[in-house]
Amino acid sequence: MTEIEVNASQRCTVHIGAGLLPETGRLLAGVVDPCRAMLVSDDTVFPLYGARVRDSLAGAGFSVSEFVFPAGERSKNLATFGQLLEALGAAGFARSDVVVALGGGVVGDLAGFAGACYQRGIRVVQVPTTLLAAADSSVGGKTGVDLASGKNQAGAFHQPCLVVCDTQSFHTLDETNFACGCAEAIKCGILAAPDLFEIFECGQARERIDEIVAHCVKIKADFVARDEFDTGDRRFLNLGHTFGHAVEALSGYETPHGCAVAIGTALIADASVKAGALRPETAARIKETLRRNGLPVACPYDAQALAAAAASDKKISGGTISVVLIRDVGDCFLQPVKLTELGKLL
Ligand code: GLY
Repeated sequence: MTEIEVNASQRCTVHIGAGLLPETGRLLAGVVDPCRAMLVSDDTVFPLYGARVRDSLAGAGFSVSEFVFPAGERSKNLATFGQLLEALGAAGFARSDVVVALGGGVVGDLAGFAGACYQRGIRVVQVPTTLLAAADSSVGGKTGVDLASGKNQAGAFHQPCLVVCDTQSFHTLDETNFACGCAEAIKCGILAAPDLFEIFECGQARERIDEIVAHCVKIKADFVARDEFDTGDRRFLNLGHTFGHAVEALSGYETPHGCAVAIGTALIADASVKAGALRPETAARIKETLRRNGLPVACPYDAQALAAAAASDKKISGGTISVVLIRDVGDCFLQPVKLTELGKLL
């Protein structure tokens, strides 16, 4: 098992290893005294792993309630969020109790946001069961739900008190879901770790998954420790996301997040070549690595549509956006770009 510390406003240990789900209760008991635990999951993940985590929590002395909602991004809304808050209230949860999020990014974001808001904040444990959640969303404290105006438009920074990542749970992911997690991990490699990138370049992702998650979590922990509230260096983690979010929005959110990030990363590789920052051979290497790991790189939308969708992102303030460009694998930089000039990057 690997343990990684995240030093943000709340210190948190991330435990990574195969077969860790039955250890959840023991690991949580090391952080909080036995109390009530609301196990939050979706109806895909709960039948697979719910009993294992519930029994582990109960065995360690926690009094477990359950909240299970329909799987999918469509559930990440104010209605489900409200139901979860009401469930916490109805079960008599107090500020000293905990929420345990068992699942992928949707479960983690929704349960984390409920944890941030219930009685102005109770502790949250993240138990990611997808590679995407393990490599990215379960760490760093970003929580939220979608509004009609866009994804993650309501949310809060709320650090988990513990992350338990059982890498065996990725064995039940289908190819697309696994590839989506690879997109975020390849992003980390391009940002800060050529050796991580090379694991994907050599097609060894499935065999070296524990090492990959540990590497991504270390990189993310470093950015979060420096800039928890996303006003400075944490923006590097948005590599591939400016146009990735645009692809997601233009597809009506039919393109999964990881696939959209892969397309966004390929677009940024080409944009970096156009800007004179990146060698064309390295851009080709990046796109081939994404493709080799089951990810799309061809963008079905033109530059004008992408720029318009990116510029209308509700989270962008003012007339300028910092776009992450690539100099080399392991070497990126932030480039301020006027919203009116975004299309010219492509
Ligand atoms: N997913 C990017 C971040 O946590 O900042």
